[in-house]
Amino acid sequence: AYDAGPHVPDGADLAALAAAAADCRGCPLYREATQTVFGSGDVAARMVLVGEQPGDQEDRQGRPFVGPAGKVLMRAVDEAGIDPAQTYITNAVKHFKFERAERGKRRIHKAPSLREVSACRPWLVAELRLVDPEVVVALGATAGKALLGPSFRVTQQRGALLRLPPLDGDDGADSGSGCRLVATIHPSAVLRADDREAAYQGLLSDLRVAAKALG
Ligand code: URA
Repeated sequence: AYDAGPHVPDGADLAALAAAAADCRGCPLYREATQTVFGSGDVAARMVLVGEQPGDQEDRQGRPFVGPAGKVLMRAVDEAGIDPAQTYITNAVKHFKFERAERGKRRIHKAPSLREVSACRPWLVAELRLVDPEVVVALGATAGKALLGPSFRVTQQRGALLRLPPLDGDDGADSGSGCRLVATIHPSAVLRADDREAAYQGLLSDLRVAAKALG
């Protein structure tokens, strides 16, 4: 089965995790991607933002949310009054999945499968354990499913102040860590929407719920 678990080192800090993730072979996505795009930000961040997977630009540059969707996200983060220095940004899946346009070289984003999302989840769990944020923001359906399970529906659960369920391996004793979770649409959905302004305002209003949960 696909599983990043055996690649995740015990007792690693974020830098050691990122270094190990660069060599992850937990699923086949590493074969076509340029590089692993690990999370980025301060270990002391109070908020973790979780996207789907790196896009074309992220795959080339090796950092999350540096492309067009990232521009939308950063504008909304700023407008919601969230200090970007207080955030850690990552993705549910750490490699770019794509197909090539029939003619030409353009790489077209392909949604990761549930298998790939669960294979990659040990990296996300390790990041969340280390950063131990107060609030997690799930950006879109893939992140929502990675954090809340396959029955997650962004249309039904977005914008509500939820609780982050215990992460795998939690023995229950510390599962009441009280970490909150807010789900919202993926910022790339803003770029695809017929009414971009309305979609952006929706993203912003959900991020404000997350900002408020920081107190
Ligand atoms: N979309 C994502 O979900 N993550 C990125 O890092 C970039 C685009």
